[in-house]
Amino acid sequence: MTVTAEVERAVMVLRRGGLVAFPTETVYGLGADATDDEALTRVFAVKGRPADHPLIVHLAKASELTRWGSDVPDSAQALAAAFWPGPLTLVVSAGPAVSRVATGGHETVALRVPAHPLALELLEAHGVPIAAPSANRFGRVSPTSAAAVVRDLGGDVDLVLDGGSCAVGVESTIVDCSGPDVRVLRPGAVTTAMVAEVLGGEVGTGGATPAPGTLATHYAPVARVETVDAAAMAERATRAVADRCRVGVLGLAADLDRSLGPDEVVTLGAPRDGVEYARVLYAALREADALGIDLVLAVPPPADGIGVAVADRLRRAAAR
Ligand code: TXA
Ligand code: MG
Repeated sequence: MTVTAEVERAVMVLRRGGLVAFPTETVYGLGADATDDEALTRVFAVKGRPADHPLIVHLAKASELTRWGSDVPDSAQALAAAFWPGPLTLVVSAGPAVSRVATGGHETVALRVPAHPLALELLEAHGVPIAAPSANRFGRVSPTSAAAVVRDLGGDVDLVLDGGSCAVGVESTIVDCSGPDVRVLRPGAVTTAMVAEVLGGEVGTGGATPAPGTLATHYAPVARVETVDAAAMAERATRAVADRCRVGVLGLAADLDRSLGPDEVVTLGAPRDGVEYARVLYAALREADALGIDLVLAVPPPADGIGVAVADRLRRAAAR
C-alpha cells in the first residue's frame, strides 16, 4: 500500500469517528476528528485521561490559526510564523468552532502544526483539524515509534500510521498566549530563548494553573527513575546492585564514560548530545521496562537548548 492509500484509509477511519495514531516530529499522537465529540470522548477513555485535561488540536497550516483560535494576539501570530510547522503548541482563546470536549471545557485551545510529512498529509486530506494527545496511556511514557504505540494501546486504536522514529523525541513546547503575558508552560525543542527572541522580550515560564502534562507524576516508566550527578553515578549504582536492584543507566556518553559502576549495570542509552538525548529518552525508558529493570539512574544533560526539556521529563519521571 502506498503512503497515500494508507492516509486515505486513515481519513475514512476518522470520518467514521475512529481513532488514528500518527507520527509527528515530537512523539506519536492518538488522533480523532477535532469536531467529533463522540470520537474525542473515546480518546479520553482510551488514554484513561481525566475529562478536564485538554487535548492539542493539530492544524494543516498556520493560516488556520485565526479560524480555530479567537482574538489571536500578535504574539501567537509571530510565533506561528516563526516555528510552524514545528514542535511548538500555542494556547489561545478558543474559537466557536472548537469542540469543548477537546478543550476539556476550557475557553482556551492548544493549537499546533506538526512538522512531519505524514501528519501534514493526513491533516490536509482530512480537511478538518485532528485533536491528539500523545498516544500512550495517561501518565506513561510517550511513544516515539509505531511499535511503541501498538505495544501500549493495542486494539484500542483503529489504525496506526507508521512514520518511523520521531526526530525530536520529546513533546512540543507549549506557549500560553491567552493571558496578559506570554508564558512557556512546557519546555521542548523550541526553547524559551527562541520564543523570547521572536517576541523581542522576556518570557515567563510555568502557569498559574498547571496543565496536565506539567503534573509532577507524568512521563513515568514502571521502573523507578532517579536523577544523579555523573560524579555520584558509580557509587550509587554499586549500592543499588548490592541491594539486588536491576540497574539501568542513561546519560551523555561523556558523563557515563567517567564511571558506570559494576558490570551488572545495563546501559540504556549513551547519547552524544542533548538533541540525541531527547531522541532516545523515551525509547530508553521503555527499554528499561522491557528488560525488567528496577531502577534507572539518569544523568540529566546540561540545561541548555533541548536539554532543559530532557531534564524536565527526567524530573517528572523521577517524581513518581
Ligand atoms: O508534541 C506534542 O505536543 C504531542 C504531539 C502528538 O503533538 N502531543 C502531546 O499531547 O504531547 P498531550 O495531550 O500528551 O499533551 C498536551 C498538553 C497537556 O499538557 C495539556 O495540558 C496542554 O497540552 N494543553 C492542552 N490544551 C491546553 C490549554 N487550553 N491550556 C493549557 N494547556 C493545554
Ligand atoms: Mg502526553
